[in-house]
Amino acid sequence: AVAILISAVVGYLSGAMPFGYWAGKLKGMDIRQHGSGNIGATNVIRVLGKGIGIPVFILDALKGWLPVWLAASFLAKQGAATEIVSAGAVVAGLSAVLGHMFTFWLGFKGGKGVATTAGVLLGIAPLAMLGGLVVWLLFFFTTRYVSLASMMAGVGVVATMVAVMARDGRWDAVMLGFGVLIMVLVIVRHRANIGRILAGTEPKAGRKK
Ligand code: G3P
Repeated sequence: AVAILISAVVGYLSGAMPFGYWAGKLKGMDIRQHGSGNIGATNVIRVLGKGIGIPVFILDALKGWLPVWLAASFLAKQGAATEIVSAGAVVAGLSAVLGHMFTFWLGFKGGKGVATTAGVLLGIAPLAMLGGLVVWLLFFFTTRYVSLASMMAGVGVVATMVAVMARDGRWDAVMLGFGVLIMVLVIVRHRANIGRILAGTEPKAGRKK
């Protein structure tokens, strides 16, 4: 139980590091005042370019993956049962995503959690990450809306989890609960984007506004 609590704290502290915001500061600006105002890699690419935005994506994903890996390795080394190892990893990952969305560095506001979720899923459910990625690419290249692609990827992640669990005949309620919660959180964090998509004002990637 203590190890699970530590996993949550380490996950939160790791996820809370606002790399997009820090990248903006390095360039002498507050990214929250530019583009969509989001601190995620998408907005950093939009405002500062790929040279800065791609490293931000990688760091935001790493800060999700690392606590998951740490929690799983630690619990496994302690000889914990597989369900406990997996639960610890899920708790660390969820905390990292929540850390990104509600970071204490920025008054408990934050990003939309897409890159961090990708890193977490790489650690706990790589097939679900792959499923989400395929859906993301599909929607991105057909619509050029990063936000729509990200929300649909959330749905793709849950669908892949269900498919994998049905195939194996082994239902992991903790993992599935994590998937559904993340999908809902990611969609809720995109509510401004949903409004813009419906109004036809959401910027498309690769086009000047
Ligand atoms: O990961 C966030 C992305 O889906 C949307 O970002 O800046 O277009 O609101 P943005």
